Amino acid sequence: LFSHGWGRGPKEFGNHFFPTVFSSHLVQHEVVANYSHLFWVPGSDLALVPYMLLAHIDVVPADENDGWEVSPFSAKEIDGFIYGRGTIDNKQSVMGILQALEYLLIRGYSPQRGFFIGLGHDEEVGGLQGAMNIVKVLKRKGVQLAFILDEGLAVLDGVISGLQGPAALIGISEKGQATVKLSVFKAPGHSSMPPRESSIGILAGAVKRLEDNPMPILFGEGPERRTFEHLAHRVIVMERSPDTNAFLRTTTAVTMFNSGVKVNVLPSLAEAYVNLRIHPAQTVEEVLEFIQSTVGDERVKMELVNGFDPLPVSSYDETSFGFQTIKKTLLDQFPQVTVAPGVCIGNTDSRHYTDLAKDIYRFAPTWIRPGDTQRFHGINERISKKNYEELVVFYFNLIQNCDIKELPSPHSAGHEL
Ligand SMILES: *[C@@H]1O[C@H](CO)[C@@H](O)[C@H](O)[C@H]1NC(C)=O
Ligand SMILES: [Zn+2]
Repeated sequence: LFSHGWGRGPKEFGNHFFPTVFSSHLVQHEVVANYSHLFWVPGSDLALVPYMLLAHIDVVPADENDGWEVSPFSAKEIDGFIYGRGTIDNKQSVMGILQALEYLLIRGYSPQRGFFIGLGHDEEVGGLQGAMNIVKVLKRKGVQLAFILDEGLAVLDGVISGLQGPAALIGISEKGQATVKLSVFKAPGHSSMPPRESSIGILAGAVKRLEDNPMPILFGEGPERRTFEHLAHRVIVMERSPDTNAFLRTTTAVTMFNSGVKVNVLPSLAEAYVNLRIHPAQTVEEVLEFIQSTVGDERVKMELVNGFDPLPVSSYDETSFGFQTIKKTLLDQFPQVTVAPGVCIGNTDSRHYTDLAKDIYRFAPTWIRPGDTQRFHGINERISKKNYEELVVFYFNLIQNCDIKELPSPHSAGHEL
């Protein structure tokens, strides 16, 4: 929406949309790294540590010819749904946050606790320009944050095998990642006199061993134990379903396998790339050790192409200001949901913010129902108008709920959070 494709720069954008946000003396706005946006709304009580809301304005590509019912950038409405690339990743948060702020300002609201809004422009390719430069700006100002809320998990309704009723999973960590290159080198030769083992055969054996021996289940060692404890009365964990499996262990995916150039030449080199998503109870180093011992063949060379450890686990106990404020806001609005901490199996812009806040949550109250998970980065991405309005209300209430000085004691009657 902010992009140049619309033929309007941020200034004109401001004049046409969210006029109060862009004209209010309460809001400071700056463009970062040419396309990302940083807003600051100071609070009246300087003793209250500010927080930050994050979202991203970029999207993955979408091609009309892939089977979309409407043009993917039309935002066309059909039967109560807005269709378009980004409607659930992550325009719903971008627009929901700005719309909530617009309404609050129109009503004359001014916060006691200050807050930042960061809208990155390159999350889908790692956030190396947008998020990282916003972080630089904030670090220069010496900002520390009480908590951060970014995209990530959602309200899952009927999409986890065996779970009855909707569950709002608030991401308190993110899996890490590693890309590992395996290679086997052998002297080249002619196919008329093949050796007993070729470079391809040796590497294929290694890859097969990796697929036959998945990383250990770490259920009970990471925060997902809490997820399933909170949901215990409603869930049957099924390891065989790929979606729950991803929560329970480091996943191993062989994504590239290259070798050979000619039908009658034994290739000297065979290479495979393995992409791993690392469970919060493991590190990159431990994962490399596991691969080495599972492959168990010195002829297979292993090289870490890139990788990072899982993100730290944010607090979610009764004294956790961010978690409890998000939870209260959710339960006031959706009394029927179960709220539980969860682990993001993908990564978000917020991973660049770990120096600014100890507590980082990844969640928006987007309702995901059967069939919706394929719409992420897929065709016919959509959000219902009702759910979009719920997002606006959620941010509208959350901002106001953040004005409390401290959480009421968990045992004081009548103030239950
Ligand atoms: C911003 O745009 C200018 C001019 O096109 C360019 O030189 C600069 O590298 C850009 N900065 C970033 C962070 O992308
Ligand atoms: Zn996203």
